Amino acid sequence: MGLKHVALVGFMGAGKSTLGRRLAERIGAPVTDIDADLENLVGSIPAYFEKHGEAVFRGVEESAVTEALLRNGRSVVVLGGGAVTSPATRELLGDRATTLWLDVDVETCWSRVRDSDRPLAQDYDDFRRLYEERRPLYADAADAVVRDEDDAGALRRLGELVPAEGAVALVSDSHVAGIHGVDAQLALGTRLAETHELPPGEEAKTLAALDHLWQEVRLDRTGTLVALGGGCTTDAAGLAAAMYLRGIAWVPVPTSLVAQVDAAIGGKTAVDLPQGKNLVGAFHWPVRTVIDPALLETLPAEQRREGMAEVVKTGLLAGEPLWELPDDELVRRCAAFKAAVCLRDPHDLAERKILNLGHTFAHALEAAAAYEGVTHGRAVALGLLAALRLSGRDTASVEELLRPAPVRVDRERAWHALQRDKKTVGGELRLVLLGDEGPQIDVPVPAEDVRRALDALIAG
Ligand SMILES: NC(=O)c1ccc[n+]([C@@H]2O[C@H](COP(=O)([O-])OP(=O)(O)OC[C@H]3O[C@@H](n4cnc5c(N)ncnc54)[C@H](O)[C@@H]3O)[C@@H](O)[C@H]2O)c1
Ligand SMILES: [Zn+2]
Repeated sequence: MGLKHVALVGFMGAGKSTLGRRLAERIGAPVTDIDADLENLVGSIPAYFEKHGEAVFRGVEESAVTEALLRNGRSVVVLGGGAVTSPATRELLGDRATTLWLDVDVETCWSRVRDSDRPLAQDYDDFRRLYEERRPLYADAADAVVRDEDDAGALRRLGELVPAEGAVALVSDSHVAGIHGVDAQLALGTRLAETHELPPGEEAKTLAALDHLWQEVRLDRTGTLVALGGGCTTDAAGLAAAMYLRGIAWVPVPTSLVAQVDAAIGGKTAVDLPQGKNLVGAFHWPVRTVIDPALLETLPAEQRREGMAEVVKTGLLAGEPLWELPDDELVRRCAAFKAAVCLRDPHDLAERKILNLGHTFAHALEAAAAYEGVTHGRAVALGLLAALRLSGRDTASVEELLRPAPVRVDRERAWHALQRDKKTVGGELRLVLLGDEGPQIDVPVPAEDVRRALDALIAG
């Protein structure tokens, strides 16, 4: 998709014109200020209002907004305070613009317009009533709320952090796009050439979703793909970058805890096949990974729990209670730990396998549940219990932190799935366990012990 206009809505006196000029400068686009254009057209707005009435004025205003939004090429369009009362305008905003609501308190607005000749700003009580009346309309029209110009918040530095000179395509999951997409767009500023959306969740990790994306992207070989979202987005967009024009640069900007501590680190990208997860992919290291734990503030609690399972796994591997750290340290340490392991063994031939701690059990439980009803995080929490027990370690930390409840799946099915994953050699399986010297790969464990550990994770 090309770039939509950026539209600014909000009450009179909010400061839309000033913000509009600054945003236009930041993204290198022209600005259209509807009120200023109307003054050129009809002369003084208060006088016109007085002579023809509000309904006529709204009609003229609606045509001016329509014309501005239908224009090709990206611009910043500043709407008058009452323009959103038109349903047609609200609909057009939805189609043609990324709409920002400049939300400023009523006192500030009043203090800026009380001495003006604006017809709707003559009496404080009326002003206040109108302010309350309009709020739901702004909320309905807007994709995001801004309070001031520097509200690009968490992602403010993204523009400088994306290396190289070429154009940037922003790819995000449609849910995350609604929350952080505008910030990312503003932060990328003049570098941004295209925006694209993937479906949220595993649906992004399909060849159909990538096919759709590849057909839309216009970048040349100097371009960079920026992937904003959870692990599904970074996995899918990373593979899209690996294959588009035989490989272009990409920068993951992970927004979930799973993605910040795990999925976006290490250069593995993949999509799923009906036969199984992650069966088609590539090693394609990003040119940079931009991690901002502030993005996690909007993450739902159940998604956070998913990530905590990988955090606890990383802490156990590192031999430090990383899970006790505050968010920014926790993310930094976990991401650094995984990055170091992956840089020493980029192609997963030896040391990197330690990252599978607990995962043999987790995958068996997920497969036995046919990937429904048992999340990866819960399965990993249980898998860690089994790995700790087989390592002769205390399981208190995992039990307290993750409270893994046994799952109700068919025991035989889980055991078959585990054996499909790990071949038994001479009655033994090889697992990642924690030894006295730290994590060890390929530790031989008698099959009956593995079976018993697996059974203990299953309810009933
Ligand atoms: N490549 C690797 O090395 C690697 C490692 C681990 C996991 N993975 C993959 O990662 C995927 C799981 O990642 P995930 O758990 O992030 O799933 P996800 O991408 O589906 O994100 C989970 C949900 O959280 C939402 N979300 C994300 N960030 C948000 C935010 N800041 N605020 C509000 N909502 C937000 C998403 O829209 C989605 O609905 C799996 O497909 C897995 O295979 C890959
Ligand atoms: Zn995992």
